[in-house]
Amino acid sequence: MSEKDFIANHPATIENGNFQWSAPSNIALVKYWGKKANQIPANPSISFTLNNCKTITKLAFAKKTETGNFSFDLLFEGKPKEDFKPKIQKFLERIEVYCPYLKQYHLTIDTENTFPHSSGIASSASGMAALSMNIMSLEKALNPEMSEEYFYQKASFLARLGSGSACRSVKGSVVVWGNHAEIEGSSDLFGVALPTKIHDNFSNYQDTILLVDKGEKQVSSTVGHDLMHNHPFAEQRFAQAHENLSAIKTVLETGNLEDFIKIVESEALTLHTMMMTSMPYFILMKPNTLEIINRIWKFRNETNIPICFTLDAGANVHVLYPENVRATVLQFIKDELLGYCQNGQYICDVIGTGSIQL
Ligand code: DP6
Repeated sequence: MSEKDFIANHPATIENGNFQWSAPSNIALVKYWGKKANQIPANPSISFTLNNCKTITKLAFAKKTETGNFSFDLLFEGKPKEDFKPKIQKFLERIEVYCPYLKQYHLTIDTENTFPHSSGIASSASGMAALSMNIMSLEKALNPEMSEEYFYQKASFLARLGSGSACRSVKGSVVVWGNHAEIEGSSDLFGVALPTKIHDNFSNYQDTILLVDKGEKQVSSTVGHDLMHNHPFAEQRFAQAHENLSAIKTVLETGNLEDFIKIVESEALTLHTMMMTSMPYFILMKPNTLEIINRIWKFRNETNIPICFTLDAGANVHVLYPENVRATVLQFIKDELLGYCQNGQYICDVIGTGSIQL
């Protein structure tokens, strides 16, 4: 598939209607950090789809007479949210060539998250994925012959143009985004479900998200990605991501949790190392992030329970572990880690399967 395969030219034959989709957040195991023009990733990444952290978006559309501009209202939890509008306007402009029918409609986008807005959990992945699913439902209504495969590929393609990691929130439990020599069907343009059988060790894999710092990040992901241009370690890092993706693919098939932990923790620390070694340099971890990491290492050494951490572009810690140690790990988290969380807040999540039409 190439970009031009995603250009639609269906007449806007439907007067009005509405759709509603939920889309989950995802947590990368091999990280996307650095991109080229048009949201093309500098390296392939892989993530677990989450189940409970979701955005639910309703899209209502009504034909209008003026078709020169995008026209939309944006509601967050039912109330107008002007400060979200520029991001959506930019997204619509980016996807205009692929979805020209959108300009024929007035859109009402009503969105909410299942996690607290101020939790520091990025809602751009789930938000852009949920909106893209709705847009594809509209496109499918205009073109009922569309195959299911195309529907999901284009939804992921559109989501990527909104936010790179959003393309991994459309479909599948383990999703790869970015060309990788060993992963058939992988693409820089959209995410694909890892086309292999995942070992039972990863069934219902748990992700407990420790909310260490809910404040606004000092450096946005967009700026961070940009700093990978002219970064002294960029080329080695991009090559390493290819190697780590090969290795984790094997691990996900064989269920080797020891190797899983090594790759996932190394990826998390490498991501933050890239931030600390860019120019300008910056640190998104907080002292409590490091306290938690050290406590996790100590607990793992003492108990041999295969828990590990990963980080996204912030101070929060994702604690990953198999379902069969859930009770023990949750007790450890409550006893030893919640003291490092802002207001003791955390979210229990688990591997999920992707977006759902409601
Ligand atoms: C650290 O997808 O938020 O979470 O494409 O600029 O919207 P944009 O960036 P974004 O970057 C996420 C980076 C990450 C790692 C990852 O999810 O792979």
